Amino acid sequence: METIGIGLIGTGFMGKCHALAFGAVKAVFGTVPRPRLEVLCDIDPAVAKEKAREFGFERWTTDWRELIADGAVDVVSITAPNAFHREMAVAAAAAGKHIYCEKPLALTLEDGEAMAAAAREARIATLVGYNYLRNPVIMHAKSLIESGAIGRVVQFRGVCDEDYMADESLPYSWRCRIAEAGTGTLGDLAVHLVSVARDLVGDIAEVSGEIRTVHTRRADPDRPGESGAVENEDQANALVRFANGVQGVLCSSRVAWGRKNHLACEVHGSEGMITLDQERMNELQIYQVKGDPAQRGFKTILTGPAHPPYDRFVPAPGHGLGFNDLKVIEVAHLLKGLAGEERLYPDFDDALHMERVIHGIIRSSETGGWVPIKG
Ligand SMILES: NC(=O)c1ccc[n+]([C@@H]2O[C@H](COP(=O)([O-])OP(=O)(O)OC[C@H]3O[C@@H](n4cnc5c(N)ncnc54)[C@H](O)[C@@H]3O)[C@@H](O)[C@H]2O)c1
Repeated sequence: METIGIGLIGTGFMGKCHALAFGAVKAVFGTVPRPRLEVLCDIDPAVAKEKAREFGFERWTTDWRELIADGAVDVVSITAPNAFHREMAVAAAAAGKHIYCEKPLALTLEDGEAMAAAAREARIATLVGYNYLRNPVIMHAKSLIESGAIGRVVQFRGVCDEDYMADESLPYSWRCRIAEAGTGTLGDLAVHLVSVARDLVGDIAEVSGEIRTVHTRRADPDRPGESGAVENEDQANALVRFANGVQGVLCSSRVAWGRKNHLACEVHGSEGMITLDQERMNELQIYQVKGDPAQRGFKTILTGPAHPPYDRFVPAPGHGLGFNDLKVIEVAHLLKGLAGEERLYPDFDDALHMERVIHGIIRSSETGGWVPIKG
C-alpha cells in the first residue's frame, strides 16, 4: 500500500488540522503510505474551492455523499459538527470506506452505537480523533506507570477545563442546543479526559456525577431583547471507580475563566505520583519515593528524542511539539493501521467507552446514584 486516497469533510478548526497532518505526515514519518488528497467538502462552494486550493486537494464538492462515492477516496475524514457524524459515518461504512472521525463519536450514545455497529458490519477500519493520546508526554507517563515508577496506582484525579463559554454575555448559538451540539462540556472536553484516564489507568466501571448549566439563558442574536434556554451542561463533576478498583475524580468545565486547554491529571501511586497538564504539553512532573528523604521532590521531565515519536519532529530535546503535531502522529497511526502494521486505537468500539462514561455521568446526575458503565 504505497498511497491512500483521502476525502476530507469540513474545513474549520479540525478540517485544517487534518489537512496539515495529511500534508506533513510523509515528511515527518518517512515510511508511512503517502496520503493522496483527493476530495475536500464544505457546504459553502467558495470556501470549499478556496480551501481545496490552499490544502492541496485535487477536487472539491459541497455534497459529502459525492465525496463518499468518489472511487479515489479510501478514507473519509469527518470533521463536520457532531450532529452530522452518524449520518456521514454510516453512509461511508455502507460504501466500504475507512473512517477517521473527530470526537465525540456522535450526539447521543444511541448514535455512537449505530456507528460502531455499521463499521463492524462493513468490516472497515475506524479511528477517532483522541489526539492527546498521541502526546509523547502521555505515552511516557503510561510507560513510567507500567514500569512501576510510582508503584501501584491508587488514584486518578483529572480535570478538563476551558473558558470558551465563560462570558455570560456570549450570544445564544447552536452550541447551546442538544439537537445540534449534543452534550456540553462532557462531549467537547471531558471525553478527552476519559480517553487519558482509560489510557493511564484502565476502563471505568462506575460513575456518580452531577452536571450543571451555569449560564442558563443567553441573549438570542436573532430575536433582539429575547433569550434562549441553554440545554446542555457548562460543568460536570464525577466520582469514578475503575474496573481495576482504582478510585478517580473527573471534573470538566467550559466556563472556567483563565483555562485555555487545561487537560490535566494526577496519577497517585503507592510509591510516587505523576502529574501533567496539556497547557504545558512538553513536560511532566514525577515524584518518587526513593533515596534521601531530604532530597526528595517533584522532578520535571521535558520531552525530547528519548520520548518517541518526538524524535521524528525535532532532534533536540526541550524544543517542544505543538497541538497540530499530535494530529500528525495520529495520522501516522491511521496510515500504519490501514497498512496492517498497528491496531487502530481508539476505533469506534473503543470510543464507545468514552461515550458511555459521559452519558453515564448525565444519567447519574438525573438519578442521583452510581451508574454502571457497560462494555
Ligand atoms: N480533537 C480535538 O482536539 C478537537 C478539537 C476541536 C473540535 N473537535 C471536533 O471536531 C469537529 C468539528 O469541530 P470544529 O471545531 O472543527 O468545527 P468548525 O465549525 O470549525 O468546522 C466545522 C466544518 O464543517 C463544515 N460543515 C458543516 N456542515 C457541513 C456539511 N453538512 N457538509 C460539509 N461540511 C460541513 C463547516 O462549514 C466547517 O468547515 C467536532 O466534532 C468537534 O467536537 C475536535
